[in-house]
Amino acid sequence: MKNIVLIGFMGTGKSTVGRRLARRLNYNFIDTDQAIEEITGLTVLQIFAKHGPKRFRGEEALLTSKLVNKEKLVIATGGGLVLNPENVRKLQQNSVLICLEASPEIICRRVRNKRTRPLLAKGNLQENVQNLLKERQGAYDMAEFTINTDEISPDEIVDRIMHFLG
Ligand code: S3P
Repeated sequence: MKNIVLIGFMGTGKSTVGRRLARRLNYNFIDTDQAIEEITGLTVLQIFAKHGPKRFRGEEALLTSKLVNKEKLVIATGGGLVLNPENVRKLQQNSVLICLEASPEIICRRVRNKRTRPLLAKGNLQENVQNLLKERQGAYDMAEFTINTDEISPDEIVDRIMHFLG
């Protein structure tokens, strides 16, 4: 059985859904942001502020390489991890990629109070979300299965993923 990788924009519920999906499948759960924070001893915000986005993307690439040989994993990726085609290529070797999506309005509502995301911390939230979504659509289209999460609960999302996995 392949690993399950959840991809998609910030605020689409990858971590919440991933944790529950892992429990349902009896798989281990990895949240790439959390793993990078544990490896570096810094928060995502601190990595961006002190070392810049390149360093963070480097940590994502390193972690992705390490995950290639592992089994029985549900992986919730940071929203930018699949922008690197090399990461996608590696993940596709042993994983099913599933995208969680949401409308810009819902994303803004979900991330509004949590300014822990360096890419959304400055400037106008709506504009940032809209611009990044436009830039990234191609990367999120890599998924084999996409679920819109605007109006359904995390448990319903898990049900749909389980149904898709068969
Ligand atoms: C990012 C998404 C964040 C985190 C970092 C960059 C992105 O993860 O990796 O702030 O580029 O979309 P979440 O998608 O879990 O918020």
